[in-house]
Amino acid sequence: MKKLQAPRGTLDVLPPDARRRLELVGIAGDVLGRAGYEPMDTPVFEDTELFARGVGESTDIVQKEMFTFEDKAGRSLTLRPEQTAGICRAYIEHGMHKLPQPVKVWSAGPFFRHEAPQAGRFRQFTQIDAEALGSDDPSLDAELILLLAQIFQRIGTGPTRLRLSSLGTPATRADYLEELTHFLRAREDQLSDDVRARLDQNPLRAFDADHAGTRAVMKEAPLLIDRISADDADHFGQVRALLDTAGMDYELDPTLVRGLDYYTRTVFEFESERLGAQAALGGGGRYDGLIEELGGQPTPGVGWAAGVERMLLAAGDEPPAPRARVFIAIVKPDAARDAFVLARRLREAGLRVESEQAGRSMKGQLKQADRIGAFATVILGDGIEVKDMETGDQREAASLDDVVDMVREATPA
Ligand code: HAM
Repeated sequence: MKKLQAPRGTLDVLPPDARRRLELVGIAGDVLGRAGYEPMDTPVFEDTELFARGVGESTDIVQKEMFTFEDKAGRSLTLRPEQTAGICRAYIEHGMHKLPQPVKVWSAGPFFRHEAPQAGRFRQFTQIDAEALGSDDPSLDAELILLLAQIFQRIGTGPTRLRLSSLGTPATRADYLEELTHFLRAREDQLSDDVRARLDQNPLRAFDADHAGTRAVMKEAPLLIDRISADDADHFGQVRALLDTAGMDYELDPTLVRGLDYYTRTVFEFESERLGAQAALGGGGRYDGLIEELGGQPTPGVGWAAGVERMLLAAGDEPPAPRARVFIAIVKPDAARDAFVLARRLREAGLRVESEQAGRSMKGQLKQADRIGAFATVILGDGIEVKDMETGDQREAASLDDVVDMVREATPA
């Protein structure tokens, strides 16, 4: 029979890792909640056109990496490769422009990209995503960057490097892309085949190239940051001033290329030196044209997403096992019902309780109590005994009711 395995590029998340993920999401929710970000969710699959229009036809994500399928009615659907397009679609669909602006939301969940799996890169991965829609105030850009840095700090991802740039508006970008394309055309013979083949589609990719000839050409290439409008330069200046005020270190990187087409103005990416080739912990930026592109009113937006698997990789260290506080041992099988009732009662009293559920011998049960870190074991035999696992003292209880108090007494402060 064929051995069944999780599909390539996917992960089974076992305990205690799954608990750690929940803790991480809890930390993110706490940090974001304090700044007014509310949880929000959108479907895991969407109309394929949403991503084609939102993320951009020329991106690697849309061209190569989407899990696209037809439903039974022949509609083309795609497993979401990212969150921003879905949030913007929902913002339009539910008339969220009528709410007080900005609308600040965050989410956590699975995303899908058909990439070659490697350390830190999966086909199903988890993102925490935060977005602020409906305002172009530069303090939102700075706030979001600082919140992400705070999440990294609380999770313990270690040192991160923040790269920052501004892409300006679509108009200045288009002019710049034309200038860059001309520049590259004039030096075509020195470029890699790859870059040359996609020159008209996405000349910016040339900044990413490893090819020596291309790199030499790019050293002389015009930079977008020198071509953005005075308004955009001013906006960027305000974002930077706020980051400076907050003491946030960053590197200006005018060649910062993000793999999604919707960005305008601020873009940023956090990297960790603890990660290998897939060093990006999280990134994002402003997308002031996206909602309009998707059929809504012109509405600015800014946000980021961070990879949960990568954050956990960078943070290292296994979490300590949860301490089950009380174990209920069963000497005779007919005590199983009492054990069941007692476990419920102790849990209702606020204790963490496990009882014997695998038919172990008495010796095996006491070993199990140790293994789960119980401080007290209730032994249900002819009578009821409560054993303090720390001191080894064993006392008799008059009734099941008594047990709750006795266990409470044995509770470590
Ligand atoms: P992104 O840079 O494509 O941005 O992804 C954000 C983060 O998701 C990455 O930095 C990385 O940590 C994680 N990630 C992406 N792909 C994978 C993968 N195949 N395996 C593991 N982790 C991965 C976005 O998705 C934008 N929607 C961010 C954004 C929100 N911009 C504005 N708002």
